[in-house]
Amino acid sequence: MRKKVSIIGAGNVGATLGQLLAIFEISDVVLYDIIQDMPQGKALDISQMLNIFNSDSKVIGTNDYKDIEGSDIVVITAGAARKPGMSREELLSFNAGIIKEVSNNIAKYCDSNKCVVIVVSNPLDAMTYLTYKVLSNYGFTKNRVMGMAGVLDSSRFVHFISEKLNVSKNNINAFVLGSHGDTMVPSVKYTTVAGISLENLLNPQDLDNLIQRTRKGGAEIVSLLKNSSAYYAPAASTFKMIKSIIFDKKEILPVSVYVDGEYGYKDIVIGLPVVLGKGGVEKVIEFNLTENEKKELDISANKISELCKELYNLKVLV
Ligand code: NAI
Ligand code: 2OP
Repeated sequence: MRKKVSIIGAGNVGATLGQLLAIFEISDVVLYDIIQDMPQGKALDISQMLNIFNSDSKVIGTNDYKDIEGSDIVVITAGAARKPGMSREELLSFNAGIIKEVSNNIAKYCDSNKCVVIVVSNPLDAMTYLTYKVLSNYGFTKNRVMGMAGVLDSSRFVHFISEKLNVSKNNINAFVLGSHGDTMVPSVKYTTVAGISLENLLNPQDLDNLIQRTRKGGAEIVSLLKNSSAYYAPAASTFKMIKSIIFDKKEILPVSVYVDGEYGYKDIVIGLPVVLGKGGVEKVIEFNLTENEKKELDISANKISELCKELYNLKVLV
């Protein structure tokens, strides 16, 4: 029997993700949105494409949360996206109210012992923290609530490295940790090209240019698109996480997770390497970062902690 993936927010990222899941017949898909008829229209359009790909996935659109009942995975892509010049953090107060409402509905209709929740909405680390805090009141454990950011940021890093070195992306294994923001930490030592550490292949100036471009990867696309933020690579990155969970692949991927002591951090959500399998986050991999990378990760953690505190200041969390 196919798994059921529900996507809350059938906008650019949500609908693109739904399309990927259906084309590759990874799951049945429920597209939920508050806009009347829109998710139904997108679901019908996607459904009418599937015979071309020999896929039997069922895709429905809905404005009723009841339809997400029994989901194996719920992805949260609801809320506003960035406009040019806007930071992810500026989205915090607007999206927090939406995410709280969405989380309460996930708790109402989904089984805390079965369902895995992946947050995509920004600001990613704070929204994942909020989702976990709400869902933990209903029995969801920290391994079942996570955020998508590191897979996307790493994929951007891979793209820039591949362009610079003129080598296949298949040879590159990149790790971007920390916050999904300007303080993210693209690891140089642990990013490899055919097993060779990146620092052996690029001079410090070129390396720094690639790191800065990765940190600003989302903003670069917003400034080009003007009225929306990136969605093809974000949807594909979420797709990769879902596949690892549904097929219990146990891939090691950078994922935003709630920490309780890992790497010395407590009570925040931060991007770390984890094993993703059928139980969600099955293990956080702890390894020795370089002194500089650990310092950068600390800065990232402090920044995230400030944003999480803001949720209490705004009384979204008490
Ligand atoms: P979008 O504007 O295309 O779609 C958002 C959808 O959410 C809209 O269809 C809207 O009607 C819906 N929505 C609004 N309030 C809702 C509610 N209360 N319940 C259900 N649905 C609701 O935006 P897009 O581009 O799909 O981005 C979605 C979110 O994901 C944004 O916050 C964006 O910043 C974030 N994002 C995060 C990335 C990451 O790496 N974590 C990457 C790309 C986007
Ligand atoms: C991105 O990185 C906007 O967070 C989104 O593209």
